[in-house]
Amino acid sequence: MKQYFKVDEWKIIEEGFDPSYNKVAESVFSLGNGRMGQRANFEEAYSGETLQGNYVAGVYYPDKTRVGWWKNGYPEYFAKVLNAANWIGIDVWIGDEQLDLAKWEVIDFKRELNMREGYLQRNTLVKSPKGKEIRIESTRFCSIVDDEAGAISYTVTAINFTGDIKLTPFIDGDIINADSNYGEKFWEEVKKDVGNDTGFVQLRTKKTGFEVATAMKVLLNRGGKPEEFSSKPIQKEKYIGAEITVNAVSGQPLTLYKYVVNLSSQNYKAQELADKAIAQVTQISQKYFAVMLLEQANAWVEKWKHNDIIIEGDAAAQQGIRFNIFQLNQTYTGEDDRLNIGPKGFTGEKYGGSTYWDTEAYCVPFYLATAEQKVARNLLLYRYKQLGKAIDNAKLLGFKDGAALYPMVTMDGTECHNEWEITFEEIHRNGAIAFAIFNYVRYTGDEAYLTDYGLEVLIAISRFWAQRITWSAERQQYVMLGVTGPNEYENNVNNNWYTSTIAVWCLKYTIEAIGKVKEANQAKYKDLVTKITFREEQECEKFADIIGKMYFGHDDKIGIFLQQDGYLDKEQILVKDLPASEQPLVKKWSWDRILRSVYIKQADVLQGLYFFEDNYDIDTMRRNYDFYEPRTVHESSLSPCVHAILAAKLGDIDRAYQFYLRTSRLDIDDYNDDTDDGCHITSMAGTWMAVVEGFGGMRVKDDVLSFNPLLPHQWKAFSFQVGFRGALLNVRVSADGVTVKNLSDKEILIKIYGSDTLIKSNSEKLTPVQASTLE
Ligand code: BGC
Repeated sequence: MKQYFKVDEWKIIEEGFDPSYNKVAESVFSLGNGRMGQRANFEEAYSGETLQGNYVAGVYYPDKTRVGWWKNGYPEYFAKVLNAANWIGIDVWIGDEQLDLAKWEVIDFKRELNMREGYLQRNTLVKSPKGKEIRIESTRFCSIVDDEAGAISYTVTAINFTGDIKLTPFIDGDIINADSNYGEKFWEEVKKDVGNDTGFVQLRTKKTGFEVATAMKVLLNRGGKPEEFSSKPIQKEKYIGAEITVNAVSGQPLTLYKYVVNLSSQNYKAQELADKAIAQVTQISQKYFAVMLLEQANAWVEKWKHNDIIIEGDAAAQQGIRFNIFQLNQTYTGEDDRLNIGPKGFTGEKYGGSTYWDTEAYCVPFYLATAEQKVARNLLLYRYKQLGKAIDNAKLLGFKDGAALYPMVTMDGTECHNEWEITFEEIHRNGAIAFAIFNYVRYTGDEAYLTDYGLEVLIAISRFWAQRITWSAERQQYVMLGVTGPNEYENNVNNNWYTSTIAVWCLKYTIEAIGKVKEANQAKYKDLVTKITFREEQECEKFADIIGKMYFGHDDKIGIFLQQDGYLDKEQILVKDLPASEQPLVKKWSWDRILRSVYIKQADVLQGLYFFEDNYDIDTMRRNYDFYEPRTVHESSLSPCVHAILAAKLGDIDRAYQFYLRTSRLDIDDYNDDTDDGCHITSMAGTWMAVVEGFGGMRVKDDVLSFNPLLPHQWKAFSFQVGFRGALLNVRVSADGVTVKNLSDKEILIKIYGSDTLIKSNSEKLTPVQASTLE
């Protein structure tokens, strides 16, 4: 863990430039608006360590799979969100010297991400090898008002000389993904053009045929006044630029405004893209930078009104949660059901920008409570629309009769992952998709979703489990062979407790949902039965047989669920006894050593206790938590948040707080030494859960929202806002008590510390804080 960035409640601040930390900073300072996003690369050239990154949501390329040893069932390709045209570029030359922070002396440097208003700023004073000093001040953002646009204000001030400076704003589409499997470039040029102050590049992705037109318009300003210029147009392969030579006067700032739009053929006809891009960029440039920035700031301030979490008395914790909420809102807005949330969002290439179980297990709860209902519904519909492909995927592996195995990683529903122990074996993801349906219906009460879409998915998933689970004649029980649980530091294990638990839960929930749908709408149920050839009696009988006779490992001596067969045979050395120098294990140990060790990458048994807490008494939860947590290395970003929630549930407020800090500051403090690849966007929703479900103790049961809040000692107070079935609640927890304010016109009956409490519309209720929330 490093404490590189300054603590501030609304900003991420970097003071001084550390090139060895540049890639981490590029990730942390990333910008996005749901439609597009980018890493915080410098506008000017940089020859040091950097990962260039610009992304357009939903635009991907099927990169041919690369594996050491091909296994039947592997997908042909890995869909990757593409590294798209670099639209921020502005080259700066003074004579024969090109501005490059890796080669010039950096005299002072400050970078700030303003999360409250949604923009990134940099101010740096540099000196060229020949002694020319200039100051660069840049501000840029991806607009959430015009969500296909971005803008940059780039000010250069000559400090110790007067003379020519050459500024070349450009768009460069000659980009290669750092993770390209065969060193292949994924874009080809369609057309381009550049005039004095305006230009565009239109590119097409190979194979998938997406087209994206990126257009720029530039304006120059000196001493607060627009300045005419005549530029030299430059065209290279997939590149356009406008070379502007300006006579810089010592001490006089020169500002170049660069306006950009990125339009994709997902939303426009390909043949209209370039014209539309030019028209739009011209239109936004007429708004002027200051107005666009003001609109951006206002829109972000408005967003924060709905989703801010305020932590009083602990600036580091406050900064952490705001950073997480900011990044989530930059990544996914929920307006387009073709889009989803990649584990790295727009902050890096790792994980291909594709969809994982992270969406259902971690992100859905965040969007359920903080956004309109349609947002979580769109995330569910994304999977519903991909059901056919999940059935094909299962078929490829030898399953039949409409059994579905959703992919581990996907862009359009096709499996993209290709390591057998995960692709074929980390099948618990199917359970998370079913759980998200349950979670959505539980939270919203929208049971019609089950009738219209949910049940079809549930039956297909249950059919998979019914075929994947094996009858053991030896045990006279059903067993689950050859799986990888959420703990990926164990592969190909038998009877992973979590996977078996979620599988059996799916079967039960499917039977329950069949009952509900039959009751709600016989006709639609019959249509579904015909559509999917569902043999209700026979198939449900099988489901019920598995439910009744499934084997779950348990150690009676310790009183814990067994993560998998043989787990206790391992050498039981706890994480606290491991030298810090050997962690993270994934970077320091051989894979073989990791697999044989007792160490758990992320919540596994504990993930099951989190999902299904109502099925277990508090002592069982405590015994399992006390056993498994000390063996967990939390090397997945998805781990600390679940532990924070469980620790809070068990009343261990100090541990909950430590886990909260770890999850919320995971990227800001680079806990796992891997933020250089990008931020852990999906786990950021887990951070939100750590506050709301952990410290706030929020749950939904039998259509009722309940809170069991705890206040960490380090905090004076914390507050958050949730929407629930038409009501909007602000919950504030302080030493004075729990104040629930109903900000809507709908009265609502909730539970606070187990007591029914009616909160009338536009009114509030104060309840004293209770020391312990144990039930
Ligand atoms: C975790 C998975 C997760 C993936 C993407 C992996 O490191 O083990 O559970 O789905 O990252 O976030």
